[in-house]
Amino acid sequence: MAEPIKVVVTGAAGQIAYSLLFMIGKGDVFGTDQPLILHLLDIPPMMGVLEAVHMELRDSALPLLRDVIITADPNVAFKDVSAAFLVGAMPRKQGMERKDLLRSNVSIFKTQGQAIDQYAKKDIKVLVVGNPANTNALICAKYAPSIPKENFTAMTRLDQNRAQAQVAAKLGVAVNEVYNVAVWGNHSSTQYPDISFAKIKQDGEEKDVLGLIQDDEWVRKEFLPTVQNRGAAIIAARKLSSAMSAAKAAADHMKDWWSGTPEGKFVNMGVISDGSYGAPNNVIFSFPLTIKDKKWSIVQGLVFDAFGKDKFDLTSKELVEERDEAMSIIEDADA
Ligand code: NAD
Ligand code: LMR
Repeated sequence: MAEPIKVVVTGAAGQIAYSLLFMIGKGDVFGTDQPLILHLLDIPPMMGVLEAVHMELRDSALPLLRDVIITADPNVAFKDVSAAFLVGAMPRKQGMERKDLLRSNVSIFKTQGQAIDQYAKKDIKVLVVGNPANTNALICAKYAPSIPKENFTAMTRLDQNRAQAQVAAKLGVAVNEVYNVAVWGNHSSTQYPDISFAKIKQDGEEKDVLGLIQDDEWVRKEFLPTVQNRGAAIIAARKLSSAMSAAKAAADHMKDWWSGTPEGKFVNMGVISDGSYGAPNNVIFSFPLTIKDKKWSIVQGLVFDAFGKDKFDLTSKELVEERDEAMSIIEDADA
């Protein structure tokens, strides 16, 4: 058996972590032959709850789990870790403006970026789940200058999974038969879930999803808003944000980063933009990616129509605004 790797989950006493920790612990992410030491970080008032999570993890009798460390100290949590799931964030409260939300999160992700810079392994893979995920990931990367920016990613896999599920239901196929759905931009309601390049494989034959659907009205007026607003629909129905599906998406994201994408298939992650497709630079932007040897590459050569270009530009604009607001908060704090 391999040597154990250290994996940190922040917000470990929260809703998403409750599902995610079990998936990680039973080998869904790093493989069923990879022993693990889990580091669980939350804030001091949550240490009692975290102790209960710790007890439950032990009682789950997971053979891969060699040790669990619970802490409220980021410097302990990030020590020597190979992979980080940054789930904990300040939630939006009633009456809160985006700037207020950003201000609280800038402070959290600055502290965690600094701890990663100082204590984590230099090849750490960081997945930011806590919202606003793209901008939080950018802040975290900014404060960890010794780690390559490519190692900081934001989660848009839930949007991909939601889009695949909508297409599968529309076509009456299993969700794993649908692939190459793109998600462009921000994990917010401006995201552009795009099925222009999506395929299904049936009886060994590859078919274009749009060719099978033959219904532009459905794509633009049903599919698109359903995926863009799915998070809000779940909050309205559950009075809490998505947790089980978010945990599954976080596990899928890290698993594919760790072990790669199959030939001819892509996945989506928010990554540092290199300006591909005219996306703004220096934002964490969701692109379709292929992954090999734990390194991602943006899929090139996909072509947009005018409708798609408008959607792409809208989400780009939002990400630039979010980044600029976050940077002005940092400048004010440093002044
Ligand atoms: P939750 O409120 O149940 O749990 C969040 C946990 O984070 C809490 O235990 C809290 O104490 C902890 N926390 C707060 N500040 C912290 C800090 N500085 N360090 C460590 N822990 C801290 O929330 P949840 O349902 O688990 O959701 C977590 C985040 O994930 C939210 O921001 C939510 O909006 C986001 N989310 C993102 C996606 C996505 O697709 N990217 C999907 C669903 C939810
Ligand atoms: C989601 O997509 O479910 C989460 O990001 C919650 C939200 O605020 O939409």
